[in-house]
Amino acid sequence: MANHFSTLAVHAGEDKRKPYGALTTPIVQTSTYTFENTAEILDFMQRKAAGGQPTRDEYGRYSNPTQSAAERKIAALEGGERALLFASGMCAITTAMFALLSSGHHLVLVSDAYRRTHEFACRFLTRWGIETTLVPIDDPAALAAAIRPTTRLIFSETPTNPYLRVMDLEKMAEIARRHNIITAIDSTFATPINLRPLEYGVDLVIHSATKYLGGHNDLLAGVVIGPTDILAKIEAARGVLGGTSNPHDAYLLLRGLKTLDLRVRRQNENGLRVAQFLEGHPAVRRVYYPGLPGHPDHEIARQQMMGFGGVVSFEIEGDMDKTSRFVDRLRLPYVGPTLGGVESVIEQPVTLFSLDREEWLEAGLKDNLVRYALGIEDGDDLIADLDQALLGV
Ligand SMILES: Cc1ncc(COP(=O)(O)O)c(C=O)c1O
Repeated sequence: MANHFSTLAVHAGEDKRKPYGALTTPIVQTSTYTFENTAEILDFMQRKAAGGQPTRDEYGRYSNPTQSAAERKIAALEGGERALLFASGMCAITTAMFALLSSGHHLVLVSDAYRRTHEFACRFLTRWGIETTLVPIDDPAALAAAIRPTTRLIFSETPTNPYLRVMDLEKMAEIARRHNIITAIDSTFATPINLRPLEYGVDLVIHSATKYLGGHNDLLAGVVIGPTDILAKIEAARGVLGGTSNPHDAYLLLRGLKTLDLRVRRQNENGLRVAQFLEGHPAVRRVYYPGLPGHPDHEIARQQMMGFGGVVSFEIEGDMDKTSRFVDRLRLPYVGPTLGGVESVIEQPVTLFSLDREEWLEAGLKDNLVRYALGIEDGDDLIADLDQALLGV
């Protein structure tokens, strides 16, 4: 099969001949799968005991044909051996961590990881005797120094939320390899169109598929991609913890993935144009976008990424109220807490973070910060809308 991304996005993972001659992969809405007789069960069990990937489905908590097609497509896009789908991005992250860490183990996590990942590591894993060390994303020496004999996992994101910091994946993988530690990257903000972490020696890639992979703000899903031996452990944990996806969301994900390449290219274009427009605007104090030469990680982003993504964060020249007025004056974006879909969505992060100002400051959030997750609308319209909203505040 041709391996250009738009071709993989359309065709990979799906059989050419489908049930009933259908063109699209059907939603297989069943909780369980039946056997002809006892001999068929025994044959199935023997094949399972021999290892390797299952040849048929058994029960909905373990697998589903619609879900398996989405998994194969995502594995092809990331260049991984296998992918596993979950009910949400957080379900993928927590199941992977539970599968790979035991009491007495140690986790190294970048300090500006997604809020709930941070919470899981620092408030939940500690209850099972798993300690976490937080390290800055841009300090390989601190990462190397954080490693202990008990470290089993190094987990990072790239780019991060909301400041779009970029991890040097080659350095991260090289440090981990020296100590035989598994590495995982939450690549939600990048997508496989802009970055393929496995090519840099990272072991596992994780996405909140709720975002760009689904792309239409209509599903929740998560995915882990990587080698079959590590994924077998995570799959066993998924079967026990029960966080598998469902056939409806898997179908929506399959449909969304077909346009991933087209959507992300437009979002990259919109991201760069909007960042450049905002950078020169007198009503904007500072812009955070890895595609701008002034961003602290621009150089590594340029080397590592095919595009800089569709999220732009910026500070309004003014206070909390002025920033809220600006957000409320915009006509195109929805106001809310997500990213990666076809509709542009904007938020003033502190407003959804907490009512407690101290908590924002502790999390490094300023009250004049805005995160704009661009959709696939026309760039001229997005900029005209920003212009009118900035002029009026
Ligand atoms: C970078 C990142 N990782 C993981 C998650 C969690 O994904 P989900 O909301 O699908 O559980 C999010 C959600 O915002 C995210 O932004």
